[in-house]
Order: sequence, then structure tokens, then C-alpha cells
Amino acid sequence: MYLSHLRLFDFRNFKELDVSFSPGINILYGDNAQGKTNLLESIFFLSNLRSERAVRDQQLIMYTRPLAFLRGVFETCAGPVEREVTVYSDKKKVVKEGGNQKNRWSEICEDISAVFFSPDDLNLIKGEPSLRRKFLDTVIYHIKPGYIKYLQVYYRVLAHRNTLLKAVKKNPSLSDNIDPWDLQLCDTGSRIFTERLKFLERIGPDILEIFKKFTGGSTDFKINYINSVNFMSRDSIRQDFLKTLKGSREKDIARSFTTCGPHRDDIQFLLDGHDARFFGSQGQQRMLVLCLKMAQAKILFRERGEAPIMLLDDVMSELDLTRRKLIVENHGSQVFITTTDLKFIPDEILAKSKLYQVRAGSME
Ligand SMILES: Nc1ncnc2c1ncn2[C@@H]1O[C@H](COP(=O)(O)OP(=O)(O)OP(=O)(O)O)[C@@H](O)[C@H]1O
Ligand SMILES: [Mg+2]
Repeated sequence: MYLSHLRLFDFRNFKELDVSFSPGINILYGDNAQGKTNLLESIFFLSNLRSERAVRDQQLIMYTRPLAFLRGVFETCAGPVEREVTVYSDKKKVVKEGGNQKNRWSEICEDISAVFFSPDDLNLIKGEPSLRRKFLDTVIYHIKPGYIKYLQVYYRVLAHRNTLLKAVKKNPSLSDNIDPWDLQLCDTGSRIFTERLKFLERIGPDILEIFKKFTGGSTDFKINYINSVNFMSRDSIRQDFLKTLKGSREKDIARSFTTCGPHRDDIQFLLDGHDARFFGSQGQQRMLVLCLKMAQAKILFRERGEAPIMLLDDVMSELDLTRRKLIVENHGSQVFITTTDLKFIPDEILAKSKLYQVRAGSME
């Protein structure tokens, strides 16, 4: 799948843009603050219908304007899909495909997706556990859309339980009311645990393979799922979760907070047996993030049969020559690369790329 054509109107610093892309490698170069990242963001947004950068969709609208409009033609195995998104300053965004408005996720073409590589991704390794959980959950619901329902229900039940814990702290006679919430938490929580473990088992070998290719196999690499619940076995997840919840109830009441469950877990990346978050070098951490993202792209390709678009924001300058080539060596993916200087792009990649200069919200 690839994006053949893009139109933007009042999107970030792009007043108006109408551009065609190559199905292979597209390089966007230009000085700082010209709109390179904004352009990648527009492709990500049109593909995945959300932004990783903007906290609210409205931030995508050009300052002081009432709306932003994006239109793309995606060439999929099943034929071209023309998708339009309008983001309004005062109401929900409207998504259309082939001119027809789409109101549900289930109506939207599943073949279109993009993976974003950004220097900020380093936080995925160095940052708080919540960022790693979010990464894990996002990749899972991209390949298993029903997963988002489990998450929504789980976090709703969790919020109720936490409110109740606070009430029980003030009035201990209410404590019997916690039981039904524990059961509900275990129902969805155990599904989340199971999906996460299953997924890590599947993506683990991919990450390992890519990591070996990138590092030449000299470093031993392992992923651990760090659990806040003591599981005896895969079949007893629900019972074990319930038991742990009961065991920590006093503590939970004292803190007015649920101290175990999927919302407390983490993923640990071990390099030669040491947690990359605390012991990995800057370069190793970078490499690891790239491998995670590439594995994400690979698994999306395998599950959906369409290669996602790869958006590489400013990652070339941080890699050495061999790795620059490796990251672009894609499995049939369309690639977009941004750089402030073409000298960061290896000659053999430049030779087969389409080049665009980005300057003050326009492209030549
Ligand atoms: N909603 C918006 N409306 C108008 N301009 C915006 C909006 N959001 C961001 N900008 C501006 O867009 C400009 C370009 O930002 P962008 O991040 O795309 O630059 P860049 O080319 O990637 O630069 P760098 O090389 O420094 O990463 C910035 O000057 C920013 O202030
Ligand atoms: Mg940028």
C-alpha cells in the first residue's frame, strides 16, 4: 500500500499543498521549522486517523483558521482508496472514503496504516512504564481492533474501583461493595494480560531478528513482561489476579488506588542481561527503539497483508552508514525520510529516491 497523492489545506503551516509521491523512497529536505515533520504528521494522521504529536486534533489546524482539510489517494492491493479528513475547531473530525462519510471504525479501510519513527521515541526506552504500555496496547489494537474495548472497559472499572476505595477509607462499612468491582476488573484485566503476553510471544522473535541484523548479533537481547500480579500459569491468570487484588485490598484502601493490574505493568528490554532503560548506551537505546518500530511495521504487514508507510523523521543523522541503509531496506514499504541535509542520506539511497525541498509550508 502506498500514498500516491496528497492534498492539504490549512494543515499546520501548510496553507495549500498538492503533491504526488513515489511508491518507493521519498526524501523531504529543508532547513529547521519549514514543515518537514508537519508533512509526515499529515501522512500519519490521514493513515491512522490520529496524531502521535498533537494532544488534540485541533492543534493540526493552521493558527486562527476554522478547519484543516487532508485528502490522500492510497493505492492498496484491492485498488485505490481516496480518503478525506476534515478537522474542525469546534466539532468532531469528519472522515470520508470515496466521498462517503464513515462514522465507525469498522467502516474504515483497514489496509491503510503508517509507522512513525521520531527522535522522541527514545522515551519509549528511557521514559515511564506508561509509555511502554501505550506502545504495546497501540500495536495490539492495530492488529486486533476488539482489544480497544477491553481497555476502555478496564479503565472505566478501574476508575470506579479507585473512587470506591477512597469512599471506603472514610467509611469502612462500605468495603463489601468492592467485591463486584474486583470481579469485573479481573474479567477484562485477564483478557488484557493474555493478549499482551500472546502478542509479546509473537513479536519477540521479530524484534530479535531485526536487532541481530542491526547489531551484528554481538549483544544478547531479551524482552520481559514485568507483572504486578503473581501468575502461577497462563490458565490461572484470572484467579491469580483476583487473589492478588484481594491480598492487596488493605494497601489499596490506604492509598485509595489499585496497586496491581495491567495498568501497573511494564516491559523490560534486557541487553546482555541488563535493563536497557538504565544501563543501555544512548546508541543501544536508539537502536532498540528502531528495532521495536520496525518489528511493529513487520507485524502489521504480516497481519494485514499490506506494508505500512514508514515515516522516518530525522533519524538518519543519528545512525552510521550501514544502519542508515538497513533502516531504509524495506520490505516493499513506501518510505518518507526527512533531513535537514542530504549529506546524511547514503548515495545509493539518494539515487533511487524522489526528492522534495520543504520551504515555509510549501514543497518543490
Ligand atoms: N497549527 C499550526 N499552525 C501554523 N503553524 C504551525 C502550527 N503548528 C506548528 N506550526 C509551525 O510549523 C513550523 C514547521 O514545523 P515542523 O516541525 O514541521 O518543522 P521541521 O521542518 O520539521 O523543522 P526541524 O528540522 O527543526 O525539525 C514551525 O515553525 C511551527 O511553529
Ligand atoms: Mg522536524
